Amino acid sequence: MARSSAKATIAALLTIICFFLPGGLTHHRSPTTYIVGDEFGWDLSIPADTWARDKTFYAGDILVFRYDYQLENMLVVNQTGYETCIPNEGYIEYDTGEDTIQLVYGGNYFIGTATPGDCCGGMKLAINALAPDNKD
Ligand SMILES: *[C@@H]1O[C@H](CO)[C@@H](O)[C@H](O)[C@H]1NC(C)=O
Repeated sequence: MARSSAKATIAALLTIICFFLPGGLTHHRSPTTYIVGDEFGWDLSIPADTWARDKTFYAGDILVFRYDYQLENMLVVNQTGYETCIPNEGYIEYDTGEDTIQLVYGGNYFIGTATPGDCCGGMKLAINALAPDNKD
């Protein structure tokens, strides 16, 4: 009785090890999906840069921007657009209310501009995405 339960435990452990080991050895990982602002979403309730501060992002990770599409938008801009809160030439606008963006390696910049002052009020997000194979 005790013996067979020990066997079952070992079998379970081996299953767990076999499941995780290949990924660990090759440093392969699947992208992490983040909801920007968590329960608040893309909103003035929480400055997006504050939300991002304690997280480490990798190229390929996915950000989901959730907001009321009738009130807000989300622009992918460059560093100048982020710093000035003025969309740079060539910005890309999203306005579905549930926008999914995959991070590129290096600087990723996002601002909200639908209402004047939103960007300066905290709807701005700068993320430096690391190379994916840096993650264990
Ligand atoms: C952002 O884009 C604008 C317009 O294309 C350009 O003038 C500016 O130099 C860019 N800023 C950066 C940091 O690349």
